[in-house]
Amino acid sequence: MYSMKLSVVGGGYVGLVTGTCFAELGHDVTIIEIDPEKVRAINDGVPPIYEDGLENLLKKNTGKRLRASTGYESVSSSEIVFIAVGTPPKPDGSANLAYIESASTSIGEALKNSSPYCVVVVKSTVPPGTTEKIVKPAVLKASGKTEYETGFAMNPEFLREGRAVEDFLHPDRIVIGSSDPRAGDRVAKVYQDHKAPVLRTGLTAAEMIKYTSNAFLATKISFSNEIGNICKNLNIDVYEVMKGVGLDPRIGPLFLNAGAGFGGSCFPKDVSALVSLAKETGENPILLQSVLAVNEQQPQRMIALLEKRIGTLSGKRIAVLGLAFKDNTDDIRDSRAIPVIETLVTKGARVTAYDPMAIPNMQRVFPAIEYSSSAAKALTGADACLVMTEWPEFSRLDKEFDLMKHKVIIEGRRILSCKGVEGICW
Ligand code: UGA
Repeated sequence: MYSMKLSVVGGGYVGLVTGTCFAELGHDVTIIEIDPEKVRAINDGVPPIYEDGLENLLKKNTGKRLRASTGYESVSSSEIVFIAVGTPPKPDGSANLAYIESASTSIGEALKNSSPYCVVVVKSTVPPGTTEKIVKPAVLKASGKTEYETGFAMNPEFLREGRAVEDFLHPDRIVIGSSDPRAGDRVAKVYQDHKAPVLRTGLTAAEMIKYTSNAFLATKISFSNEIGNICKNLNIDVYEVMKGVGLDPRIGPLFLNAGAGFGGSCFPKDVSALVSLAKETGENPILLQSVLAVNEQQPQRMIALLEKRIGTLSGKRIAVLGLAFKDNTDDIRDSRAIPVIETLVTKGARVTAYDPMAIPNMQRVFPAIEYSSSAAKALTGADACLVMTEWPEFSRLDKEFDLMKHKVIIEGRRILSCKGVEGICW
């Protein structure tokens, strides 16, 4: 096993999974994280986020090949420093690069008195040009070094939340962007035990590959949702349609599940950032804007269907099952349940919500609605029920629906197996 000395700046979801998995692969890793609570948790082997399989790997490697720190001391002896800090959206949809810039400056300061060749690699999702125009100058300015002494690369992540460890350890491709082959070669070395194809590109192409991948997947979903909406009007099962369509290898069967739309910390943010990037270049990104518009419309279709079934929502008790943006996570960022609950509350409905994992997070967004400790409790006495997340446990619900006052069930994800359910687009 080939072992390298690595630092990963950012102990969030990407940084923590990346750092832990690199340690599992045999590398010596320091995660640099500004939040002392997270640092303590990582060093205690307790993941500050829920991610399938992460706790095991963290416990196995912490204190041996993996550690976390609030300081940048490990950088000067690292062969590679990965930047995995957040790029949250600004009010206009463009990516906020302030954390990228400050991490780059701190890395540069830490490299000031070091002599070995180090490669700074951007893992965060960033607009094309960021590594060259923001990271490189900030690192070189703060370190006083030349670009012959420090290399730069861009290596996007393709990790699905909830399945990130699996995706990291068994990737379908590894993209390494660099302007100088020496930097790219070093990054390729860190992945040498992976079997996936490695694609070497320029810096900006690697940055663009990440945005384009997410935008394409989001487009598949909005496309399926639009077809689903048409199918519902025509009384056609969109899932049968997409099964037939997805058998064409040019299309593929994945990400064609129609429903309440895409949420999470990536698709909505990355498509918005690409729209704003396109506009900066003078383009009018009609297709990408429509992808977002369809996505915004889907949750409101749930409300429209509900009103069609039960009339005014004022004073009605509505059970909302599923708060996380998808199953197997407690993450509610941009969850489609948020606009649904918002509209229900505005229209005077009494909401009772249930989710196997995400209640504490949703309580911070909607402290005033009611939360239940089980689906059965949320359904008891409800006038209607909306299913917002594809949690497998919902597929086993059956008799629990008999506890409702009126058995009006509308699902935004095709997950229920009992009779009498109406789908958002089926
Ligand atoms: C997504 C990508 O799938 C990853 O490849 C990428 O690395 C990651 O973003 C990122 O940029 O970091 P993630 O946000 O974890 O991963 O979630 P997905 O599993 O892709 O699902 C996103 C949303 O789309 C969920 O709300 C899900 O319910 C919805 N979805 C997904 C559909 O509505 N229909 C589908 O057919 C598939």
